[in-house]
Amino acid sequence: MQVYLAPLQGVTDWIFRESFYEHIGQFDKSFAPFIRVQNGEFYRPSQCNDILQGHNTFQTPVPQFLGNDVDSFKRFEELCLENKYSEVNINMGCPFVKVVNKGMGAGMLSHPDRVEDFLHSVFAITNLDISVKCRFGQENATEFEKLIPVFNEFPILEMILHPRVAKQLYKGEVEVESFARYAPLLNHPVCYNGDIETVADIERIQALAPQVSGIMIGRGILKHPFLLAEIKGQELSHPEKVRLLKSFHLSLIERCKEKYAGDLNLLRRLEELWEYHSEGFEDGRKILKQVKKCNTLAKYEAVLFKVLDDLI
Ligand SMILES: Cc1cc2nc3c(=O)[nH]c(=O)nc-3n(C[C@H](O)[C@H](O)[C@H](O)COP(=O)(O)O)c2cc1C
Repeated sequence: MQVYLAPLQGVTDWIFRESFYEHIGQFDKSFAPFIRVQNGEFYRPSQCNDILQGHNTFQTPVPQFLGNDVDSFKRFEELCLENKYSEVNINMGCPFVKVVNKGMGAGMLSHPDRVEDFLHSVFAITNLDISVKCRFGQENATEFEKLIPVFNEFPILEMILHPRVAKQLYKGEVEVESFARYAPLLNHPVCYNGDIETVADIERIQALAPQVSGIMIGRGILKHPFLLAEIKGQELSHPEKVRLLKSFHLSLIERCKEKYAGDLNLLRRLEELWEYHSEGFEDGRKILKQVKKCNTLAKYEAVLFKVLDDLI
């Protein structure tokens, strides 16, 4: 069973991935947040920085493409080849209205013919291994039934399925029964993604869909950073966990200093992480409030050390 780190834009960037791999643990693969490309141009060129080789030394992420035309994919492929990547992922799951309305991300899923045309043109020119990360549709999971034969036409490396539809965003029930029904109908290795927080959650998915080849975890790792160690059967003492967590946080701060000018930008970046990370602490709401109040790095460090010292 492969275990992957999910891409979360603004959270699991190179700063997070490098610090996590260096101090907490190594996933079988980590996926970089999407790089949006439109009409052959990078929508936000700064998104490309995340996959630069110089930023990725402890891990090699899988870059992710968000777009819907082959010229844009070609531009993305050039960037990936320049940076020596051989595997990439296509995002067909992003549920945000501005993306969906442009026919990108989950917006592609309501048009199986467009998915087919796009994948045809991509597989005709690419030198990369390509996986696809997607949802089951826009409104209803049964929309996926029309997409299965389309995905089965192409030599996709693996399918990563998040069993929600776009209108749910990241909330509401994950449709694990639909996942168990659809996963065996795909010709490709299938990875499950969604709401995994414990080893028991993984066992439940494996029992429902024994052919699943991997599990991708996002928010569950931000909330419980040692879930990966647990999955691997590594036993860590409580003081050891606190020590590793401290090194992880210090390393986040050091890398943020490299990227951000001024305390406020750095603090807003760390706040994004704490939106999820704080949920793993008993008094998480209080901690998040304190983090949000910080307006200097020194104040943040004082909050951080208090939080970590209280764990001992
Ligand atoms: C803030 C945020 C940003 C996300 N950014 C991306 C992204 O860049 N690419 C992508 O494929 N999925 C993105 N996702 C979806 C996650 O990768 C994942 O599919 C989702 O959170 C469900 O998995 P989880 O319950 O393990 O977190 C994002 C989710 C959140 C909450």
